[in-house]
Amino acid sequence: MSNIDETKLNPGEPEIDELTKDRYLGGHEYDGIRELDNKLPRWWVYLFFATIIFAVVYLLGYHVTKWWPLQEAEYANELSVASDLKKANPDPVVDIENMIPLTTAADLEAGHATFKKICSACHGQNGEGNAVGPNFTDQYWIHGDTIAKTVTIKNLYKVVIEGATGTAMVSFKSQLSPIQIQQVLSFILSLQGTNPQNPKAPQGVKYEKIG
Ligand code: HEC
Repeated sequence: MSNIDETKLNPGEPEIDELTKDRYLGGHEYDGIRELDNKLPRWWVYLFFATIIFAVVYLLGYHVTKWWPLQEAEYANELSVASDLKKANPDPVVDIENMIPLTTAADLEAGHATFKKICSACHGQNGEGNAVGPNFTDQYWIHGDTIAKTVTIKNLYKVVIEGATGTAMVSFKSQLSPIQIQQVLSFILSLQGTNPQNPKAPQGVKYEKIG
């Protein structure tokens, strides 16, 4: 560490900038506030030069040589990567008319994840229901097919897509893709006959054929 005060123009001399004082009317003193002509701190000067270097590199890299893509080009690149990915892994086609519950562990696991994230708030952690939503583990259903005397995944699919008017069950059409709905409903149907704690009292009609 040197003992020279770098912030002063001439180390060792008084702070007042005598040089410029005479040049302007009243010098660099206004109402007792003195304007000094101190040397800029080193870190400030280095930062200043760094910004100039940065600007030159930026200008050359982005605008002159076009080494790096600008925002719009970057966006277009990402879109084309995404569309390639989509082409390589197309969304599974869900045949709603002939839909049946999925049974593979991977599908049920994916359905369970969606259930925990979105549905359990109203239908209970284990599908037991709560003050808001109905129990999924018993044989009683509100939205079954009373004529065919069955509850199919298609009946339930309709509830998730359309919601149940006038209840807290809203449409999840914009939040979940058809395959995600099929997965979460398959998970829900797999809960039939489990006996979770604190089950909600039955609601709706009792069905023998569920699934
Ligand atoms: C904000 C609370 C809420 C959330 C979140 C919610 N539900 Fe519901 N759900 C309800 C209510 C309330 C009902 C009963 C509707 C009625 O009375 O017709 C219901 C009914 C249902 C039914 C029909 C049950 C029957 O007995 O026929 C299905 C299926 C269903 N929900 C699936 C889901 C799925 C899948 C999710 C997550 C993606 C979900 N719900 C999220 C509140 C909710």
